[in-house]
Amino acid sequence: MNPTNLSRPQTAFVFDIITIFPGYFSSALKEGVLGKAAQAGLVKIRPVNLRDFTTDRHRTTDDRPYGGGAGMVMTPEPLVKAVSALKEENSKARVVLLSPRGKVFTHELAVKLSRLHHLILICGRYEGVDERVVEKVVDQEISIGDYVLSGGEPAALVVIDAVSRLLPGVLGCRESADSDSFSDGLLEHPHYTRPREFMGLSVPEVLLSGDHKRIAAWRRRQSLRLTLERRPDLLEKVDLQEEDRRFLKEIKNDAKAGRSG
Ligand SMILES: C[S@@+](CC[C@H](N)C(=O)[O-])C[C@H]1O[C@@H](n2cnc3c(N)ncnc32)[C@H](O)[C@@H]1O
Repeated sequence: MNPTNLSRPQTAFVFDIITIFPGYFSSALKEGVLGKAAQAGLVKIRPVNLRDFTTDRHRTTDDRPYGGGAGMVMTPEPLVKAVSALKEENSKARVVLLSPRGKVFTHELAVKLSRLHHLILICGRYEGVDERVVEKVVDQEISIGDYVLSGGEPAALVVIDAVSRLLPGVLGCRESADSDSFSDGLLEHPHYTRPREFMGLSVPEVLLSGDHKRIAAWRRRQSLRLTLERRPDLLEKVDLQEEDRRFLKEIKNDAKAGRSG
């Protein structure tokens, strides 16, 4: 799958984040790749305070669960109002609820989302959101993994970061997404920089050779080796070349014979 959507027009990708903690994002969105992308007008990331859509004096966004039990539940009215207000600007914006029961976020899903233009991300808190919000306004639920966070904010940041780096112009060629782990279905090869010797360990000789063909072959092999060792499940989904298969067979035979290298 082509990791970047090169054909998209150069308008800013909009991420609206509905949250009760808008301040949570203030430093993260100013720093590094995301900060630069925002400054360059490639992404617009807008935390939206859910409390601005409440009507009571205390700006309440949660209530006790029907049926009893521990914890509070986010009430539907402010969430639906916030989504409707944002949809007035773009009725086609995709509404995503961050949720542990959602589809697990992967590179493939990040690529699909990067082909859109506008995401509205709802960050849950407490026990989560009233189910009618999901039924009425949510297009898709996304989980960032099989564990439970205290809120959807860190998950929203993960989605925004992973999607943004796939947008054209966000990464320079020095930090191209095309060679990152998962972009070709494999884990990435190891990296080395100066010094050449460090704590008794040398940089692999091939990387000093200047022979780009050999370097590319070494990197591909390291990538295959790491993927086989750490994420063999990924290999089942990758389009492997004949040479890749030969190399993987060699590693497996070496392992059987107790050799390494
Ligand atoms: C404490 S959690 C609620 C957990 C919920 N009671 C459950 O057991 O599924 C509060 C909020 O954090 C967010 N959240 C927690 N874990 C997440 C995950 N793995 N991926 C995405 N969002 C998550 C969701 O927005 C959720 O509504």
